Amino acid sequence: MRSSSRVVWLASMVAVATWTFSVAAQDHAQHAQPSTPHAAAGHSHADAAKMKNPVKPAPASVAAGKTLYDTQCASCHGTAGKGDGKMAAMMNPPKPSDLTDGTWKHGATDGEIFTLIRDGSKGTAMRGYAARMQTEQIWNVVNYLRTLAPPAHPSR
Ligand code: HEC
Repeated sequence: MRSSSRVVWLASMVAVATWTFSVAAQDHAQHAQPSTPHAAAGHSHADAAKMKNPVKPAPASVAAGKTLYDTQCASCHGTAGKGDGKMAAMMNPPKPSDLTDGTWKHGATDGEIFTLIRDGSKGTAMRGYAARMQTEQIWNVVNYLRTLAPPAHPSR
């Protein structure tokens, strides 16, 4: 008796987890299309702004984000995030953004920064990382970027 109720409990937990995952996947599918053409001036993405960062900015997340940043982003954005990486000098505008200035051309919320990293900035050297990083890894990078710049927007 007891073990069968445990099985029911386990099955319902699996069902909830599956449901949560599919909702999250749908949410991503909706955001998969970046708005085109992509505005060159500062702007925001209302749908992306509503996304909540599911990963707490705990030291482990920030450290994981830094490791990813150092290996995949610093070549353009610079080791300190100033937009002065080795590749930046030979690049046509727009140049890699200064990620420490608290100015976010594509929106200042965690959700907008996440979406920009995932989808990239169309027509620029900033390519989307959707195929190269897992969702949680991108959030870790967002949490790390938050330590470089003061939040310009009280997003959480
Ligand atoms: C090949 C060079 C290159 C690499 C590598 C690169 N970026 Fe970028 N990034 C750019 C450029 C260029 C822009 C400016 C795009 C624009 O103006 O729309 C940009 C813009 C951004 C922005 C938008 C800043 C704002 O003001 O809204 C963020 C955030 C960002 N990059 C994060 C990252 C992260 C995180 C990585 C690594 C996972 C990364 N970038 C890797 C070139 C690069």
